[in-house]
Order: sequence, then structure tokens, then C-alpha cells
Amino acid sequence: MFGDNCATCHGPGGVGGKGYANLRDDVWLWGGSLADIQHTLTVGIRSGHPGQRLSVMPAYGRDELLPAAEIGDLTEYVVKLSGRPADAGAVARAAPNFANQCAACHGVEGKGDVAFGAPNLTDAEWLYGSDRVSIRGQIVNGRGGVMPSWEGRLSPETIKAMAVYIHANAGGQ
Ligand code: HEC
Ligand code: HEC
Repeated sequence: MFGDNCATCHGPGGVGGKGYANLRDDVWLWGGSLADIQHTLTVGIRSGHPGQRLSVMPAYGRDELLPAAEIGDLTEYVVKLSGRPADAGAVARAAPNFANQCAACHGVEGKGDVAFGAPNLTDAEWLYGSDRVSIRGQIVNGRGGVMPSWEGRLSPETIKAMAVYIHANAGGQ
């Protein structure tokens, strides 16, 4: 069932790919309990389902919410959050912006929040890539990945079995 319905996006066995969550690690956008996973599968993510998992990271660049220089500084801030060397001046300049614009979803320390599907920015797992170009691309465009709702396409029993499969594969939060 996974191979037929899920592997096109999540890769063979659920290893993930750019923009497609890795389902084999114990790192979760929307929560990793059995009930969380089952709910994600049922309602989908930005799927249009009435109960969809929904949050929209603003497109700070595309919608001209922040100037390019500030987005550059925030990119350095995110690099620093993930424990890598970054431009100290840029990090200091970006701190107020991170607190005002980003912390509401990603948390004050950047550790993410499953209530908003907002990834932890301090770990080594990346949805869209760890390099500066990928990080900046997300701040500019706020991509917002879409997963269909499986309600009505798979039976409730199959959705539950699928959730058990993923939960077991990932190590089970
Ligand atoms: C059309 C592409 C697509 C298909 C098909 C698809 N997914 Fe997804 N899935 C996604 C995307 C994109 C995300 C990440 C969305 C985001 O950015 O929040 C995701 C996220 C998830 C998550 C949440 C992971 C987390 O970290 O919280 C689970 C669980 C999941 N998918 C399971 C499945 C299963 C099981 C199937 C097959 C029944 C499936 N997906 C089919 C695109 C897809
Ligand atoms: C309304 C909630 C929200 C706000 C505000 C927000 N984000 Fe996000 N962010 C998300 C979500 C949700 C995702 C992942 C889902 C997607 O876009 O597919 C994400 C993804 C990211 C990623 C990609 C992480 C990865 O693993 O690839 C980066 C980097 C990022 N955000 C940085 C920021 C910065 C910097 C700000 C402030 C300027 C910000 N975000 C503000 C919700 C938010």
C-alpha cells in the first residue's frame, strides 16, 4: 500500500526528498504519536479538507514583507541556530526580526512547533535543504508543502494500518 500510494512523493520506504518529509526518522512536522500520524493521513496537509493541517509561513521576499538585506541576515541566523559558523554581525542584526516574525511558529529558540507544522531549525534534519540558498529560498517563498487527505481514498482501517507502519518504521514517538 505504501509503495502504491505514498512512495511517489515520500520515496521508496519513506526516505523523503526535498519538500517531502522523511518518514523513517523520529523528527516530526505535525507530531509523531500514532494518533498524530493517523490524523495527518486522514485530513492531509494544506489539502483543502475541512479539518486540514494548516499553517502558512509568509513569503517574506516574494510578498515584500522584509527587504533583501534582512532576509540575508535571517539566513545567517538560521545557519547559526543549526550550530554552524555564521556571520556574527548578521546574526545580531537578525535577532529582533527572528523574535518578532519567526518565533511565533518556530519557537523563541527555533526548536519548532508541531501545532504549526513548523520544523525545528536547530537540528540536522531539513525539509528543503541545509545550505544558505535553500534556507533563503524558504524565507523568500514560504513554500508550504501539500499532502492530500486520504479520507475516502483509503478505508479507515487502511489509514490506521499505514499509521502503525510509519510509527514503527520511524522509531515511534
Ligand atoms: C502528492 C505528494 C504526497 C503523497 C502522495 C503523500 N504525501 Fe505525505 N506528505 C507530503 C508532503 C509535501 C508532506 C510535508 C508537508 C509539509 O510541508 O508540512 C507530507 C507529510 C506527511 C506526513 C507528516 C510527517 C511529519 O513529519 O509530521 C506523514 C505522516 C505522511 N506525509 C504520510 C504519507 C502517507 C502514509 C502517504 C500515502 C498514503 C503519503 N504521505 C502520501 C506529500 C505527499
Ligand atoms: C505561520 C508560521 C510560520 C512563520 C511565522 C514562519 N515560519 Fe518558517 N516554516 C513554517 C512551516 C509550516 C514550515 C515548513 C512547511 C513548508 O513550508 O512546507 C517552515 C519552514 C521553514 C524553513 C525550512 C526548514 C527546513 O527544514 O527546510 C526555514 C529555514 C524557516 N521556516 C525559517 C523561517 C524564518 C527565518 C521565519 C521568520 C522570518 C519563519 N520561518 C517564519 C512556518 C512558519
